Amino acid sequence: MNSLDNFPYPGVTECWHPLLESRALKDKPVSVSLMGLPLVLVRLNGQPRLFTDRCPHRLIPLSQGFVERDCLVCPYHGWAFDGDGQLRGTPGTQTCNTTAKLSSFPVQEKDGLLWTRMQGEGGEPLGFSDLPGYVHVQAYRSLDCNFFQSIENFLDPCHTPYVHKGLLRNRGAQQMRISQSVHSGGFRTQFDLPQRQNGWINRLFDPGVNRNVGRFDLPGRVELDYLKDDRILLRVVLFFVPHGASKTGIFARLYATRSWLPSALRFAMFKPFAETLFRQDRAMLEQQQAAVDRFGEHYRFADTDIVARPLWALLHGQTPKAGADIELNVAAGQ
Ligand code: FES
Ligand SMILES: [Fe+2]
Repeated sequence: MNSLDNFPYPGVTECWHPLLESRALKDKPVSVSLMGLPLVLVRLNGQPRLFTDRCPHRLIPLSQGFVERDCLVCPYHGWAFDGDGQLRGTPGTQTCNTTAKLSSFPVQEKDGLLWTRMQGEGGEPLGFSDLPGYVHVQAYRSLDCNFFQSIENFLDPCHTPYVHKGLLRNRGAQQMRISQSVHSGGFRTQFDLPQRQNGWINRLFDPGVNRNVGRFDLPGRVELDYLKDDRILLRVVLFFVPHGASKTGIFARLYATRSWLPSALRFAMFKPFAETLFRQDRAMLEQQQAAVDRFGEHYRFADTDIVARPLWALLHGQTPKAGADIELNVAAGQ
């Protein structure tokens, strides 16, 4: 059975998705999943290979197995598969008298990540955007929440005075002028900020950000720039990975300007704040997913849901419309 037929976001099923940091694939097979399908990544003859994670003999996950003589060997009865997924050996017999082949998927390496595309043809992995002259750190996290909600949460300003109260925003004037444009396979939202964000993170780290630009590109790249006038002070790039209908992975890169303070120290100072923000979002998103599991994905969209409509359209294979320009105070009523 092809689990992709039931995957709720048809707009991303034919795209390249990142699965694993390339350096994490060494001499052992690794279990991964994409759009609900269990997969095994393995390096055979030095090349990364991707197969369905199921031995055709008695269905044991091959990710539990091992590599021997450039074959992936099943841990149950030792069937051995080569780089093309072809069965090469069945222990106990001199010759392999059974034919079997694993389903395989293409793998490309780009920007230190291993990518695959499970359906369709052509196209290229998006990769991280280039930002010369900046330093960066990278991390991976996962959430028990669907693809749509995980992405929307990151681009949505309206939850910040509630979920991240005190840390990102507080009671008071937090005006934003918002404009949006759409482009092929994505959209861009600009938030002009007449007042500085009034949470603790901004008091500690913000040297005068007065504009945010959030960009989304299919299948799951989100880029959020924090600018002072036209200069990028901080860029966060997140690749969301639809591991399953209710499981989403995130490869995150944080780019910062160079300064006299060593970048490792600056990132280490910022890390506890970023982890707290993530924990706060995760608590909300995982409750939301429990409700989606129970009631289905039915949402009511309002005009203040700036990214929800174009994102929903793109994930469902439709052409989005840009939202109208609006002005709002996200911390009103706090
Ligand atoms: S289940 Fe894999 S060899 Fe038997
Ligand atoms: Fe958040």
